[in-house]
Amino acid sequence: MKPESQLKNDMAVVKTWNLSKTYRTGFWMNKTSQSLKNCSLEVAAGETFGLLGPNGAGKTTLLKILLGIIRSSSGKATLLGKPFGDRPTRQHIGYLPENAYFYDYLTAWEFLDFTGGLFQIPKMQRQKRIKSLLDTVGLAQEVAKKRQMRKYSKGMLQRVGMAQALINDPDLVFLDEPMSGLDPLGRFQVREIILSLKEQGKTIFFNSHILTDVEQICDRLAILSKGEIICKGTLEDLLGTADRYQIVVKGGTAELLQQWVPDLRRKNDNWVGHLVGDRQEFIASLDLMGVQLLDLKLARPSLEDFFIQKIREHDPNAHIEEDFKAIA
Ligand SMILES: Nc1ncnc2c1ncn2[C@@H]1O[C@H](COP(=O)(O)OP(=O)(O)OP(=O)(O)O)[C@@H](O)[C@H]1O
Ligand SMILES: [Mg+2]
Repeated sequence: MKPESQLKNDMAVVKTWNLSKTYRTGFWMNKTSQSLKNCSLEVAAGETFGLLGPNGAGKTTLLKILLGIIRSSSGKATLLGKPFGDRPTRQHIGYLPENAYFYDYLTAWEFLDFTGGLFQIPKMQRQKRIKSLLDTVGLAQEVAKKRQMRKYSKGMLQRVGMAQALINDPDLVFLDEPMSGLDPLGRFQVREIILSLKEQGKTIFFNSHILTDVEQICDRLAILSKGEIICKGTLEDLLGTADRYQIVVKGGTAELLQQWVPDLRRKNDNWVGHLVGDRQEFIASLDLMGVQLLDLKLARPSLEDFFIQKIREHDPNAHIEEDFKAIA
């Protein structure tokens, strides 16, 4: 237990103000490229926050700045209420890097024991913690103890990475593409781990390409395109409520229909608009109103359609469909 780290529910655990990053590039370092532009966002305690964006959008850059791995060119941020870079705060943060590098002649157990040691977790406690983490991430103890990591599959390494990110029982966890390289079962397990961390009240900030996972586990999300946050909010803020229906009907009168469809309008010979009220009751009253139902579908787009539309609006040349549609 870490009483000093208990967070008030309404506290912003991650907050950034106009974070920007400009890299010097070219052989003579005389060119610049801006990877992050005025990035402002807020993540509340206990939230699961998803940062989405096509390849090269700046997701990893933002995470690395927050973790103090690289420096921002301008702007500021706080983590757990402290300016980023604050050393004691790091004790309460976990991080799964995008391309984790492991000392691959070590076994997973030795590696986790080593990282636990860096956090000065006493030996007995460390052993207990490693055992329970291996169970959590779905890695057999026998394998973890006996097999060197150079003989692990990509999915097994990702599980070690996840265990490593949680070794210090962090309050705030950054996960850069946690589902990457995992088969459907592995993805499911990572989703379950994230949900169980959430149940324990932890704050999770993750980058992902896999929009279906994001849709299932995120409380809020932001979309990055060419270094800029182009939209952010809850799924409901961005996509609309999950039970809003769009209808197309024929016949009836505007007076009757408007009680159900306040934004009713004519389209060719039909009426179109959004249904307000109970769907079953509306269907039951169609005969009485002399109305024929031609179409009724959820008005809310999928996150994938929304994502592609937003990225295309912001960057018409983005090559995203293949990447995202292949995985979703
Ligand atoms: N060290 C560096 N020097 C110069 N440019 C860099 C450096 N690191 C990243 N960049 C550039 O910054 C931009 C953002 O990169 P970043 O890795 O943050 O993207 P990303 O959204 O994480 O992409 P991916 O989905 O592929 O992981 C890219 O254009 C990349 O080429
Ligand atoms: Mg990345």
